[in-house]
Amino acid sequence: MAEKSRIGVTGLAVMGANLARNMARRGFGVAVHNRTTAKTTEFLAEHGHEGAFTGAETLQEFVDALETPRKIVVMVKAGKPVDAVIDELTPLLDPGDIIIDAGNSHFPDTDRRAAECAERGLRFMGVGVSGGEEGALNGPSIMPGGPLEAYGEVEEILTAIAADVDGTPCCTHVGPGGAGHYVKMVHNGIEYADIQLIAEAYDLLTHAGGLSAPEIGKIFEQWNSGDLESFLIEITGIVLAKTDDRTGRPLVDVVVDQAEQKGTGRWTAIDALDLGVPLTGITEAVFARTLSALRDERAEAARTLAGPTPARVADVDRLVDDVRQALYASKVVAYAQGFAQMRAASNAHGWDLDLGAMARIWRGGCIIRAQFLNRITEAYAEHPDLDNLLMVPYFTKAVSDAQDAWRRVVVTATEHGVAIPAFSSSLSYYDGYRRERGPANLIQGLRDYFGAHTYRRTDADGAFHTRWSQDGTEVSAS
Ligand code: 6PG
Repeated sequence: MAEKSRIGVTGLAVMGANLARNMARRGFGVAVHNRTTAKTTEFLAEHGHEGAFTGAETLQEFVDALETPRKIVVMVKAGKPVDAVIDELTPLLDPGDIIIDAGNSHFPDTDRRAAECAERGLRFMGVGVSGGEEGALNGPSIMPGGPLEAYGEVEEILTAIAADVDGTPCCTHVGPGGAGHYVKMVHNGIEYADIQLIAEAYDLLTHAGGLSAPEIGKIFEQWNSGDLESFLIEITGIVLAKTDDRTGRPLVDVVVDQAEQKGTGRWTAIDALDLGVPLTGITEAVFARTLSALRDERAEAARTLAGPTPARVADVDRLVDDVRQALYASKVVAYAQGFAQMRAASNAHGWDLDLGAMARIWRGGCIIRAQFLNRITEAYAEHPDLDNLLMVPYFTKAVSDAQDAWRRVVVTATEHGVAIPAFSSSLSYYDGYRRERGPANLIQGLRDYFGAHTYRRTDADGAFHTRWSQDGTEVSAS
């Protein structure tokens, strides 16, 4: 009888196929299965020589090919397909077997599936995997959630296939239930903010600076050797430099300006609203994609709504450097907000997330991998209960050093009519957060005026209501 495989992968679209290949190349026996058998046959014909694969035509064959307790990676489209696979698998499994959902599932679904599987005696892990096709094959960042002891049984495999930074794998147990998918969701939200900031920088350098795509590409290439060093900055340089074979123009200039989205950024923003966390950068990034989608409306509005007609900025070099600093400061804010949200979620769900470890496993493999994540890990090592990353000296200095440039960028963009929702909302967040006393006293006054919603006083405890429009009398409301 053939030797049983250590792990199985069902769902051989590109991410599943590449994860299976990664595992096999690291020496693990992998059983592979796909709903359409032709895909399995094709996979084995193309990659069968890369390691010890066992192809299975049916789920029964697939399950039988695995050593027990079975470890099954499900890599199908998030949503109903995941439930369908689980329902088909569970009658074939034994108590203690482990189902690993490695797709971009929404964390409440993961919580529900974990509970349902537990009722059936199975162990369910919701595992965030980032890095796209390339990462899945050569080393992704892996965010495993679920029972710790189940993680213990797959740790060797997951850490072996994960990216490695300075000898540390980009994989660690995140927390129970939906914690892994939650952290992946926030990762994607931050990815949205990073990408939006990059797009705003490009827009500003194009329209206020008068620079061409390849010229901006070179600037990004330079930026990639400083504070901003990161995968997304690197690939921006490459994307902007690309010439279209058909027209000879920069390829980005012929790409339609409508951004699509699959939902993880929106989920992050919605959850921030639910938790009451001010997550302005990511949320503006989601809205900016939604606005971009209104292409026909925008075309009409472009002919109807007037904008300013400013002259090009005189000092382009200064604009370039200002934009670099604004990009960095806004990025710091986006991460500060994302980490504050993970902290709030950890408290709300009792996940006990190690935020420094989250930054550590994002240093390699994933889409937002960046140099400065080391600083975040260091910040949480020193202050595990940190409310906001802006409050540690490294980041305090980074934003305060950048603030003059950041403000100039917001002014220049506004004067030129360039929309910069992420730059400006990050700056507004910064200005709002650093105010000991903001204007919400007036909001409370208005609410009390029209709805007797009450207010609190700075000089006395309790809730108060004033008859603002009548005799002005204060009436105790507690
Ligand atoms: C990753 C990516 C990956 C995917 C995004 C794209 O970490 O590898 O984030 O998950 O590229 O889901 O999301 P949108 O289609 O919503 O931009």
